[in-house]
Amino acid sequence: MKVGVLGSGGREHALCFSLKNSNNIEKIYCFPGNAGTNSIATNIDIDLENFEKLKDFIIQNKIDFIIVGPEKPLVDGIVDYLEKFNIKVFGPNKIASQLEGSKIFTKKLCEKYKIPTAKFGVFSNTKNALSFLQNCKFPIVIKADGLAAGKGVYISENLSDASKAVDEIFNGKFGKAESLLIEEFLNGEEMSFFIISDGKNFKIFGTAQDHKRVFEGDKGKNTGGMGAYSPSRLESDELNQKIINNIIKPTLKGLRDLNCEYKGFLYAGLMIVNGDPFLIEYNVRMGDPECQTLLPKLKTDFPLIISKCIEQKLKDINIEWHDDKSICIVLCSKGYPDTFKNNIVINLEKLDLKKNQFIFHAGTKLVDKKILSNGGRVLNIITRSDDFRLARDSSLKLLEEINWNNGFYRKDIGYKVIK
Ligand code: AMP
Ligand code: GLY
Repeated sequence: MKVGVLGSGGREHALCFSLKNSNNIEKIYCFPGNAGTNSIATNIDIDLENFEKLKDFIIQNKIDFIIVGPEKPLVDGIVDYLEKFNIKVFGPNKIASQLEGSKIFTKKLCEKYKIPTAKFGVFSNTKNALSFLQNCKFPIVIKADGLAAGKGVYISENLSDASKAVDEIFNGKFGKAESLLIEEFLNGEEMSFFIISDGKNFKIFGTAQDHKRVFEGDKGKNTGGMGAYSPSRLESDELNQKIINNIIKPTLKGLRDLNCEYKGFLYAGLMIVNGDPFLIEYNVRMGDPECQTLLPKLKTDFPLIISKCIEQKLKDINIEWHDDKSICIVLCSKGYPDTFKNNIVINLEKLDLKKNQFIFHAGTKLVDKKILSNGGRVLNIITRSDDFRLARDSSLKLLEEINWNNGFYRKDIGYKVIK
C-alpha cells in the first residue's frame, strides 16, 4: 500500500512512524514533512492550501489513502475536495470539521443535544458583550469563534482584562469576528479523550493529558503543547461510559441529523468536575503532542485500523494497546511561544535510543545532511515505561544527551501523576 500523510509536525512524524511499523506499507509520502519524516517517508513540498496540486500528485502516484494531520485543511474542506476525485481520505468532512472550526457551532450542538458544557452566551458586538460582563462572576472565559491555533481563549480575572479580550477579538486579532463566546469558568481537571470513527461505528483511541503552558507548574503563556502523558490519571470505565453516553454519542447523533457521518479521529477536550465530564472543546484530529505520546503504545497494525475506517468496517477489528505509561517532553526553541531563531543545527547522530524511547521531529528540516531547527516546537522525546517517573527520567536523560544550546523544555511534565 502507498499512503500519504498531510502535515509537518510531531504528530505527523508519529503517524508516519506507526505506518512504517507495518508490513503492509510499501511507500509513505509526507506533505510537506520535516527532517524526521524524511528518514522514513518521501517528503513532498506541496503547500497544504493547494488542494489541486495535492490531488494531482496523489492521483499520479497512485496513493491508496491519505491521512490528514492538522485541522486547517480539514476545516477548509480537503476531505470533500479529494473525495470528489475518488481519493480515499481519513478525516472528517467540512461540515463535521465545524466541531473545531466554529466554537459557536459546537456550543449550539451541545445546547440542542443536552451535552454537558460550560454555560455560555454568544455576543455579536462589543456593547452587548460588555454590558453582560458588568454582572458576571470572575474568572470568566472569552473565546474567539474560529481557528486560532490554541490562542483564541482568554481566562479573565476581572472586568478590565475581559474588556481587553473582547476588544482584541472584535478588532480581528484572530481573523474577522462576527461574534464571540463568553462562558462560565469550569473548575476541575482536564483530560484529552480520543475516539476513532468510521462514520458508522467508533472506538476509544486512548486518553492523555497535555501541558499547554510554557513554564513549569503550568505557568506562563499558552503554547501548542509542551508535553503530555498517557493515560490520564482520571481514566476509568465508569468515566469512559459517561463521556461516551453524555458527550460522544449525542455529538455523533447531532452530526447525523445534519446528514453528516463523522470519519476520522475526534479529540474531546474535557473538564472533569466532581467525576462528571464537561466538554470544553472538540478538535477534529489527533492532539499534538498527545498523538506522539499515544501512538508508540499502539499494538494493532495502524494502517489496518485506518483502512478499516475507510471501508467503514472498524467494528471488525480490535484495537490493542501496550498496557504501560508514556510521557512526551517537547524540546522548544528558546523564546517560544514568542520570537525565536530558526536554522540552528541539532546533532542527533551519537544518540543511542533504547527500545522504548522514541524521537519525533516537529520544527526541523534537513539541509546538506544537517538537521536544522525550523519552528518553535522542535523535537518530541517519548519514553514508555511501567512507571511515569521512570518514563520522565529517561526522556530527560535523552534531552541532556541531546544538549541543544538553543533549546529549552519543561522538566515537570506529568507532575500530577508523579509525586
Ligand atoms: P480551548 O482552546 O478551548 O481548549 O481552551 C484552551 C484552554 O483554556 C483549555 O485547555 C482550558 O485549560 C481553558 N479553558 C477553556 N474553556 C474553559 C472553561 N470554560 N473553564 C475553564 N477553563 C477553560
Ligand atoms: N495538544 C493540544 C492540541 O493538539 O490542540
